[in-house]
Amino acid sequence: MNILLSYSSGPLITIVPPIPESQYSQSQIPQSESFRPRFRKPTYSSNMNKKRILVVGGTGYLGQHLLQSFANLQGSSSYDLAFTYCSTPPSDLLHALPQSHFPLDLRIGDGFDFITDTFGQPDVVVNCAALSVPRACEADPLAAMCINVPKSLVSWISSFKEKETLLIHLSTDQGTKSYYKEEDKTLPVNIYGRSKVAAEEFINSHCSNFAILRSSIIYGPQTVSPVLKSLPIQWIDDILSKGNNVDFFFDEFRSPVFVNDVVRVIIALTKKWVIGEKLVFIDSYALEESL
Ligand SMILES: NC(=O)c1ccc[n+]([C@@H]2O[C@H](COP(=O)([O-])OP(=O)(O)OC[C@H]3O[C@@H](n4cnc5c(N)ncnc54)[C@H](OP(=O)(O)O)[C@@H]3O)[C@@H](O)[C@H]2O)c1
Repeated sequence: MNILLSYSSGPLITIVPPIPESQYSQSQIPQSESFRPRFRKPTYSSNMNKKRILVVGGTGYLGQHLLQSFANLQGSSSYDLAFTYCSTPPSDLLHALPQSHFPLDLRIGDGFDFITDTFGQPDVVVNCAALSVPRACEADPLAAMCINVPKSLVSWISSFKEKETLLIHLSTDQGTKSYYKEEDKTLPVNIYGRSKVAAEEFINSHCSNFAILRSSIIYGPQTVSPVLKSLPIQWIDDILSKGNNVDFFFDEFRSPVFVNDVVRVIIALTKKWVIGEKLVFIDSYALEESL
C-alpha cells in the first residue's frame, strides 16, 4: 500500500534555501552526549498471531494520544504495542501505559538492533518522531533533516525480508496556498517543511508499503505526561484567561484537526488499508466511508 492523505493547506511563512543531502547524511551526525540508552525488560507477548505495532516517538503529543487509544481499544489484547523515546521516557507515561519501550535516536539510527532482538519485526510502524517545532528546525537545520527524514527507520524496516511492515508516517500541511490536493506541487516554506517534503520523497522512493498522513495543526487535550511544547488550545486559553493581549497571525489559513481524529485514521489504517493505490484522497468527511 502506498497512500498519501492530507487534511488541508497552509501559509507562506519564510523561504529558505534547500539543504544539500550531503549535509545531512546520518554518518556526519555525532552521537548526542545526552543520548544514553536505557533498557527495561520488555513486557511484550510472544504470541505470533498478535499484530505488533511500534510507535516511534511515542513520548510526543500525538504518540502519547495514539498509545493511549491503542491501549483503550476493545480487543487491545490482539496487539503487541511498543514505543520508542529519545530523551528519558516520562514516568507518568510509563505508569499509565506500561508497554515495551525502547531508546531510539533517529539522528544516528541507534537502537534498532535492540528492538529487533526483543520485540521483533513490527507489522506496523507509526512514525510520530520529529523535530516538530518549526523554530527549532530553523535553529538547527541539520538536526531537522536527520530526524525528520527517517532514513535509518526506513532502512531498518526494509531489512526484514519475510514480510512487509506497514510504515505510517506523519507529514505536514505547511505550504503556500489553501486547499491543495495531494498531487499539487509541494512548496515548503521553511526548514521544517523542507524536511517533511524530503521525508515524503525518501519514503516514496525507498519504501514499498507506506501511508503518509499530511496533518494540519493538531489540537486537543494535554497528554498523560504533559509535553513541554506549546499546544494551540492551551496557549490560547492561557492568554485569554489572563486577559492578555496577543498578536495573532492573520495571514494563515489552516484546518486544525482534533488529535483523536488523527488517531482514528491511524488506527483504521492499522486494521484495514487500500492495496494497489498510489494516492488516496481522504478528508474527515470521507473518512468513515473510506476506512
Ligand atoms: N502537533 C502538530 O500540530 C502537528 C501538525 C502537523 C504534523 N505533525 C507531525 O506529527 C508528528 C507528531 O507530532 P507531535 O506534535 O506529536 O511531535 P512532538 O510532540 O514534538 O514529539 C516528537 C517525538 O519525536 C521524538 N524525537 C525527537 N527527536 C528524536 C530523535 N533524534 N530520534 C528519535 N525520536 C526523536 C521525541 O522523543 P522524546 O520526547 O523522547 O525526546 C517525541 O517522542 C510529527 O511528525 C510532526 O511533524 C504534528
